[in-house]
Amino acid sequence: MEQTVILSVHDLHVKFTLRGKVLHAIRGISLDLYRGESLAIVGESGSGKSVFTKNFIGLLDKNGWVDGGAILYYGMGGEPADLAQYHTEKEWSRIRGREIAMVMQDPMTSLNPLKTVGWQIGEALELHQGLKGEAARQKAIEILADVGIPEPERRYKQYPHEFSGGMRQRAVIAIAMACNPKILICDEPTTALDVTIQAQILDLIKELKEKYSLTTIYITHDLGVVANVADRIAVMYAGDIVEIGTCDEVFYDPRHPYTWALLSSLPQLGVKGEELYSIHGTPPNLFNTIRGDAFAPRNPNALKIDFKHRPPYFAVSPTHKARTWLLDPRAPRIEPPTVIRNIRSVREKRT
Ligand SMILES: Nc1ncnc2c1ncn2[C@@H]1O[C@H](COP(=O)(O)OP(=O)(O)OP(=O)(O)O)[C@@H](O)[C@H]1O
Ligand SMILES: [Mg+2]
Repeated sequence: MEQTVILSVHDLHVKFTLRGKVLHAIRGISLDLYRGESLAIVGESGSGKSVFTKNFIGLLDKNGWVDGGAILYYGMGGEPADLAQYHTEKEWSRIRGREIAMVMQDPMTSLNPLKTVGWQIGEALELHQGLKGEAARQKAIEILADVGIPEPERRYKQYPHEFSGGMRQRAVIAIAMACNPKILICDEPTTALDVTIQAQILDLIKELKEKYSLTTIYITHDLGVVANVADRIAVMYAGDIVEIGTCDEVFYDPRHPYTWALLSSLPQLGVKGEELYSIHGTPPNLFNTIRGDAFAPRNPNALKIDFKHRPPYFAVSPTHKARTWLLDPRAPRIEPPTVIRNIRSVREKRT
């Protein structure tokens, strides 16, 4: 399959100032996003998933800034636009919503409680697609049906508080879709939605992706929900992508000890009668300079070099790479935990 890049991030650094101190939130991420793919970004709370992607729509908090790198957007034809150089609202208005849309973690904060859902979709349709009156109403109802909201004609007239949590999330996606974006980013809440609803939203995104040839990024802390749905998975740790590969590569052949730990702690993969694995320790404090592999202090098998030098990416396949010294040809052979080696058989047995 021929793949064209729609968004290319090069060595992106993002920093914040907080009470006079500097926090290095994104520590040199590079990523090519392909047109039409669905990428999942997974990682613990605080790993930088939201901060990373907020840079694509210019919604970094005011105390944050891009401290180096480029974000090349190829979606508008001609020369790519470097979003890392965008500063004004005027510049961002060409991108935000109409090229790249982001569905935020908390659907209640992105919906206006005082306006009907139909009105809010209509507003986006008028602004981005020039539709008004009956044409806009028809289109809005079509979009509500597209996002799987039953009885769209009735729902159109309702207010956000009349929607359940899952339906609200769909309404927010409907508003995003009304802008007709090329890239849709869904930043899933860690707690507000249960796993079943997350799975339904993922199915929905898959349908929208097919119907509208969208490129999608789905953000979650739960590797389990993106299994078999995403084309690729990027694993984030401490402001960096530590492993990226196709869904199969990350699930069946993970190479970074952090990915091992994430997979080992999935309840779905737990062995009956055995205590579920949990990652001990806490993520590093990003106010401090990080030396070596950021995961080393929590990695029971860390090598000496892990505490000294930051590992480069080592390619496992043309589509799979991980930032770990374990992939260096000189590294001692360390086997992944048993649960990882068993994943294939556990999963095969259960399906
Ligand atoms: N406005 C801000 N000022 C200072 N630090 C910030 C700011 N916003 C985010 N951070 C820090 O940047 C890091 C990444 O945060 P981010 O919100 O991207 O994490 P996340 O992976 O999205 O987590 P979650 O799963 O909880 O949403 C964290 O250490 C966070 O504390
Ligand atoms: Mg977040």
